[in-house]
Amino acid sequence: MPLGIIAGSGLYEIAGLEILEVKRIDTPYGEPSDSYRIGRLTVTSPPTVTSPPTVTSPPMDYEIIFLPRHGSPHRIPPHRVNYRANIWGFKELGVERIISVSAVGGIGDGLRPGDIVILDQIIDMTGGMRPHTFYDDEVVHVDFTEPYCPEMRKEIISASQRKGIPVVTSGTYVAVNGPRLETAAEIRVFKSLGAHVVGMTGMPEAVLARELEICLLGISVVTNYAAGLSKSKLTTTEVVQTMAETNQRIMNLIVGALPGFFKERTCPCKESLKEARF
Ligand code: HPA
Repeated sequence: MPLGIIAGSGLYEIAGLEILEVKRIDTPYGEPSDSYRIGRLTVTSPPTVTSPPTVTSPPMDYEIIFLPRHGSPHRIPPHRVNYRANIWGFKELGVERIISVSAVGGIGDGLRPGDIVILDQIIDMTGGMRPHTFYDDEVVHVDFTEPYCPEMRKEIISASQRKGIPVVTSGTYVAVNGPRLETAAEIRVFKSLGAHVVGMTGMPEAVLARELEICLLGISVVTNYAAGLSKSKLTTTEVVQTMAETNQRIMNLIVGALPGFFKERTCPCKESLKEARF
């Protein structure tokens, strides 16, 4: 099964992805943000030097499907992204796992621009303005205790250790509607609620994946200090620049974890609809 990657501000293409097909998909929920880039990533592992002999693994091909969350060029604001269509499109393409990369403001103590956070929790403050479910006409309550796939989290954290790419191994993402940035008081409240990062796209993306039994891994890049935490004014330029500077590290991290993302799934995400229907 191909691996889906959806990314936002500042990450508009996957370095090294050989695109084999660009596919437009119409969904019952309308049009996704863009065409899906279906391609192949060839990974050559460096030789493993054990005491002789040196072992060289053959290059491996991985099928990846990439979607730029805000379209290309970047034109769809976070509150207008068709989250349902984006996730539905991945499902139609046979994707079982998605990596969601996002830019965030850092709230948590010690988080600095450039830090990579492997998310484990969400606080949804988007207030229901965005369609939040595929199940409008039937009663389905998916378990969302752990919003991100535990198996994918484990794989990426061990890849970070193997490759020596530091990541923050947990973090609570507070999702806001935007498109405006926050007030200093809002950030103080979010901090008191236990949030570590703030962003505008994490929800409903995560729950929609869960509703279709797709695993989701949330990788956030801290692109700026959240409102009120630094003296300088927040700018979009800063967000895009920091994201661009972090792209290579993120890709190295993802490449390091790829074999794990193509194994048979044993996580609960794959049966999230079991006993969820009334
Ligand atoms: N707030 C909300 N969304 C964001 C931020 C922020 O500070 N930085 C990047 N996306």
